[in-house]
Amino acid sequence: MITIALPKGRIAKESLELFSRIFGGDFVFEDRKLVLQKENFTFLLVRSQDVLTYVHHRAADIGVVGLDVIEESQHNVLKLLDLQIGKCKVVIGSEVGKSIDYQKPQIKIATKMPHITHKYFSKKAIPIEIIKLYGSIELAPLVGLSDGIVDIVETGNTMKQNNLKIDEVIMESSAYLIANQNSFYQKQEEILSLSERLGALV
Ligand code: PRP
Repeated sequence: MITIALPKGRIAKESLELFSRIFGGDFVFEDRKLVLQKENFTFLLVRSQDVLTYVHHRAADIGVVGLDVIEESQHNVLKLLDLQIGKCKVVIGSEVGKSIDYQKPQIKIATKMPHITHKYFSKKAIPIEIIKLYGSIELAPLVGLSDGIVDIVETGNTMKQNNLKIDEVIMESSAYLIANQNSFYQKQEEILSLSERLGALV
């Protein structure tokens, strides 16, 4: 028996499609149910940021989660396979026609990814103040809450519609199949076989 945590949100549709190609057409969580049983697998539908928590605590053996989310958390999980879905970038952005003034004593950066942001700027020895937000990050520079943002860009529409531009790309991201280390050693054969079936599709 293998338990798999799948993310709600932006990579939900694509990851459900991948698994439906393996497990058959009717791969849906019905009626707001959060658990789905297929063959020897139990699928859990969780928030994307929570996939790592489920896998880390072994409430799920494996999961699907974006590389950006893995980088942001400090959970130790095994990355088994790049699923080549949910592609996006983590970028530094600021208002069009108004570059971030790195000479200022302290730059304010709004983000929902404080760890990635802190790591990136400290590597460059640029002192910043991180303004932690939970969403609608693009709003922060427009109302003077921050000088710039660190955020996810997928199509680029949200930035464009809010008069922001990409200044730098911090990392490229896509969704990965991940595993709890103990689960992996104990259920290696089943997990690797599923990973190979997925790998053949991507
Ligand atoms: C993400 C991200 C951007 C947007 C980028 O937010 O924070 O706001 O998507 O996508 P785009 O480049 O295709 O426009 P999300 O939709 O996850 O919502 P949030 O603001 O609530 O975090």
